[in-house]
Amino acid sequence: MRTEDTIHFCPPGRLIIGQGSRSQLPSLVEHLGYRRGVFVTDRFFAGSTPWVTEYLAAASALGIKTVVFDGGEPDPSTVLCDRATQEIRALLDGRTPDHVIALGGGSNIDLAKALCVTLPGGRPVRDFVDGLNASEKPLPLIALPTTAGTGSEATPGAILLDPGNATKVAVMDNALRPQIALIDPELTYTCPPSVTADAGIDALTHAIESYLTLDSAVFDRNGHPDPGYSGRSSLTMMFAREAISLCARFLERAYENGRDTEARSGMCYASIYAALSYGSAGLNAIHGIAYAVAGMTHRSHGTTNAVMLPYVLEALVPHRPAEIVEIANIFGITGKNTDETGCELCVFLRDLIANLGIPTTLEELGIEEDSLELLTRDGLAVTRLAKSFPVPDVALEYSRIVRNAFHGQLGKVPTDAIKKSVDHI
Ligand SMILES: NC(=O)c1ccc[n+]([C@@H]2O[C@H](COP(=O)([O-])OP(=O)(O)OC[C@H]3O[C@@H](n4cnc5c(N)ncnc54)[C@H](O)[C@@H]3O)[C@@H](O)[C@H]2O)c1
Repeated sequence: MRTEDTIHFCPPGRLIIGQGSRSQLPSLVEHLGYRRGVFVTDRFFAGSTPWVTEYLAAASALGIKTVVFDGGEPDPSTVLCDRATQEIRALLDGRTPDHVIALGGGSNIDLAKALCVTLPGGRPVRDFVDGLNASEKPLPLIALPTTAGTGSEATPGAILLDPGNATKVAVMDNALRPQIALIDPELTYTCPPSVTADAGIDALTHAIESYLTLDSAVFDRNGHPDPGYSGRSSLTMMFAREAISLCARFLERAYENGRDTEARSGMCYASIYAALSYGSAGLNAIHGIAYAVAGMTHRSHGTTNAVMLPYVLEALVPHRPAEIVEIANIFGITGKNTDETGCELCVFLRDLIANLGIPTTLEELGIEEDSLELLTRDGLAVTRLAKSFPVPDVALEYSRIVRNAFHGQLGKVPTDAIKKSVDHI
């Protein structure tokens, strides 16, 4: 029971979940009065599934005109966004759309989110990385995720690669949360195992990381009247707990048998519940260091998160003992005491990640040992995440975590050795 929470909870405008629910979309769009849309997706969905043409035909029959951009790519960049902005504006021929639809994984949804900001004026997306002015109203977004998942359909951010930065940049504002998040588990049935694994471990990471993050009562909102992220509360933790339970039951099943529709649905619920947690509570060291790892290795978002998960969790055992035991119990782990339970949980999760075909050390990802200090520094530079890591000495712990993750070491490295390397940072 928690009575000290100070809650600023921001969900998407509407949340629609159900098998086949995509068929409701055209009449809902019409009902909301939208008449001119942009549909953002990639060539796989446009060419190898009936979903785009089905929507276009049904929407057109209702008098809704839609322009399609099918040039989405994994991990979209600021460069792709700016090119898409110009291409779509040319197709629109001076007319302003009244909604944007995203079909795809987190990559297509993030590209569409950024386009909601850039399409009205045609400005480069980098102009919006520091935040939106009150006058810069993004277009309303309708997100249909096809992976389970990033949860981008419920969050305030578009995450983009940027050639000028070591880590990804974010365009962030609560106005960017989709007006409609429509989650149809059938859209995930075609995910190959590697995408299922990557996205699924991302959902589990969101749930665990936000469950253990800084409390809302002490979260630094920097005076922002409408913060995107504001720390964990009983409300976010309720969603996180449910998401962890669903992942415990369905993640490996969905990976091992993509035709297991119960597991596919279970992971869709896990993904959105995890997003309802982290989308207001926020994240910390796993994502902070993973962004730096992705900057060095160009490996996928899910993979870089997965590598960091057990090592960051281990660092939190002394600071979040009760919650770590709760998570362990969800996975059926009950040790003799907190330390043993925490240690077993970290090893269990590392084994789970290996079973999903994902590397479990930074060395396996191709990171060189002499890059570890730079990696630590780049991770710490993502200050919005580092400041939410609930440990007394964030730099020291980041350094320890990075070293442990490189060597695949779950167990303490002497603090003196770490202190020496932190002095260089
Ligand atoms: N904005 C946020 O809040 C947020 C949160 C987490 C991650 N992200 C971003 O999301 C991206 C990762 O997204 P992702 O893990 O969903 O993968 P993705 O969108 O990058 O997709 C990976 C590949 O899988 C394919 N794919 C997706 N769904 C499929 C399906 N149903 N059937 C067959 N193929 C399918 C895509 O076409 C693509 O080639 C990263 O860029 C990350 O930064 C954003």
